Amino acid sequence: MGTKNIVWHDASVSREERNKKNGHESFVLWFTGLSGSGKSTLANAVSRKLFENDKQTYVLDGDNVRHGLNNDLGFSPEDRKENIRRIGEVVKLFVDSGQIVSTAFISPYREDRQQVRDLLAEGEFIEVYVKCSLETCEERDPKGLYKKARNGDIPSFTGITSPYEEPEDPEIIVNTEDYAIEEAADLLIDHLKEKQLF
Ligand code: ADX
Repeated sequence: MGTKNIVWHDASVSREERNKKNGHESFVLWFTGLSGSGKSTLANAVSRKLFENDKQTYVLDGDNVRHGLNNDLGFSPEDRKENIRRIGEVVKLFVDSGQIVSTAFISPYREDRQQVRDLLAEGEFIEVYVKCSLETCEERDPKGLYKKARNGDIPSFTGITSPYEEPEDPEIIVNTEDYAIEEAADLLIDHLKEKQLF
């Protein structure tokens, strides 16, 4: 472990050159919220809009990343921390490559989200709190996991037997009980326009 005997190489194509060629900044829209709150749907809807406007865009999604890169991790606090740490490093690479990344991870711990924020430059980490009551998420239960968790078949399930720490000062809050996905995606695009990021 560590970086002993490892030397950093500078890239032949710089981040600035990539952003100039793409005609836009690169950054991350970090969606956080309970399972079933709408993170993935919203991240994908926003990514679609970005793509259709000729932006470089990519979605990193909890369920997908856990099939590959992080298939050795479970849902203990330590594993969730490591999950988010690795994603943070991946996001940093994607941002360096010029992408507007949308991530959809529960990322339940404030400290872990802050760690990713600290890894990036000022303004590159846009925290989007996908707000939705536990009751509604449980009603939606798109993957049938809340039911299983209530039956005791999934230990440490977020919102039931494992905590979710709400963001204290997110850049954006989107309440998916009040807005349809398309409307919510438009609100996010409006925010990016305000910040001259779109
Ligand atoms: S995180 O807490 O480490 O950020 P992540 O977003 O990667 O979680 O994965 C969450 C997804 O894994 C959920 O949407 C759900 O489909 C699935 N999952 C399986 N077990 C659990 C659990 N114990 N708690 C929360 N989500 C779980």
